[in-house]
Amino acid sequence: MAAPLPTLRAADVDLSTPEFWMQPAPLREAAFAALRREAPMSFHKEFEPPPDLPLPRGPGYWALVRHAEILEASRNADVFCSGRGTNIPDLPESFKEFFGSMISMDEPRHGRLRRIVSRGFTPRALGRLEDAVQRRARQTIDRVIDKGRCDFVTEIAAPLPLEIICDMMGIPESQTRFVFEKTNVILGLGDPEYVPPGTNLMVAALTAGKALADLMNDLAAERRKSPQDDLTSALLEAELEGESLTQQELASFFVLLVAAGNETTRNAISHGMKALSDFPDERRRWAADFERIAPTAIEEIVRWASPVIHFRRTATRDTELGGQKVRAGEKVVLWYNSGNRDERVFVDPYRFDITREPNPAQIGFGAGGPHFCLGANLARREMTVMFDTIRQRVPSLRITGGPDYLQSGFINGIKRMQCAWD
Ligand code: HEM
Repeated sequence: MAAPLPTLRAADVDLSTPEFWMQPAPLREAAFAALRREAPMSFHKEFEPPPDLPLPRGPGYWALVRHAEILEASRNADVFCSGRGTNIPDLPESFKEFFGSMISMDEPRHGRLRRIVSRGFTPRALGRLEDAVQRRARQTIDRVIDKGRCDFVTEIAAPLPLEIICDMMGIPESQTRFVFEKTNVILGLGDPEYVPPGTNLMVAALTAGKALADLMNDLAAERRKSPQDDLTSALLEAELEGESLTQQELASFFVLLVAAGNETTRNAISHGMKALSDFPDERRRWAADFERIAPTAIEEIVRWASPVIHFRRTATRDTELGGQKVRAGEKVVLWYNSGNRDERVFVDPYRFDITREPNPAQIGFGAGGPHFCLGANLARREMTVMFDTIRQRVPSLRITGGPDYLQSGFINGIKRMQCAWD
């Protein structure tokens, strides 16, 4: 059982400062608990944009903190749209070239793109990846096992999701490190370690996005000449069948895929390992009956971790949500981390329970609707195989240092966490 949370008042909660996101987790949890209890629909100002991001400070947003309102907004995409942006600030036009993929589109454009790229995520396509997932997980442990200790995040949690996305797309192994570094910049924009103070954030993000887009464009040029058995070739084939994907759509889809599929799964694995170390009874219980418990354990890890903290929607017309009037054009922010701790849905929400039922209620992959995580089944499989490999190969693995958290109100990240085994 986790320690009880301190009691805070909703009126004292300010989500819009970097300091809020630098506080220890129990204080942040207590702030969201106060909002759920006292102010389920509260209006917040936006972050002050850093001086080198030439964005006007936005008009503010409604914070959706309870499970019910998050579900309602997520599932009514015609009233709460994604096409006007899914990050809290409106991003500048120049970002759209690399970061304007389907996650920030509405129907019918979104549906058309999603239909095309879904061919990489069918049960058959995932079945074909199964061997690679198993082999890559084994290799990850092979690389470190003789050392007896390593950094869990960069050496165990990070390689598998990254290598699988590169395998899917047909990116050569020599480029995986490059992809890793560029996605760190894109998703770690608020953290000085990835973008040192004094670096222009806008330039850093655009440069990283362009580098990934260039890599994809080069690969596409090769695959046009000689197609292979990979998703890049399949997407180019879709083009030939009349469902054309422009060069820009292909490149920004790739940027979305590496950003959405990499860090999220890495962080879920790292938070999961931390939770299993903090709650050794749960770890023993899972180890004793791994296959049977795996489905609920994985959902619980995603609920516990909530690797994506929020996404935004915009009201397309005047409406009402959670008893609150929301006017056309107003922003609403879906705080998945908070919905995943909602006492109305999860009994004893601060307890890590690997057999929690029913756990499909968890909203770490999104809360339903057209944008629900396309890679959820792949992520579930990667996590299951990674924890199974750890259980079999390094059962005594324990956390010995850290975790060192990412400073972000968007990605619940762990940058480093030392571990050792006998
Ligand atoms: C534990 C790991 C993961 C988590 C927690 C996660 C979470 C999410 C969330 C919250 C969304 C937005 C849902 C919404 O707006 O309704 C999303 C969308 C998406 N995810 Fe994931 N994700 C994970 C892994 C992956 C993987 C492995 C891939 C692909 C390789 C992936 C690809 C995508 C794509 C393409 C979208 C956009 C879908 C759309 O707009 O239609 N994700 N994910």
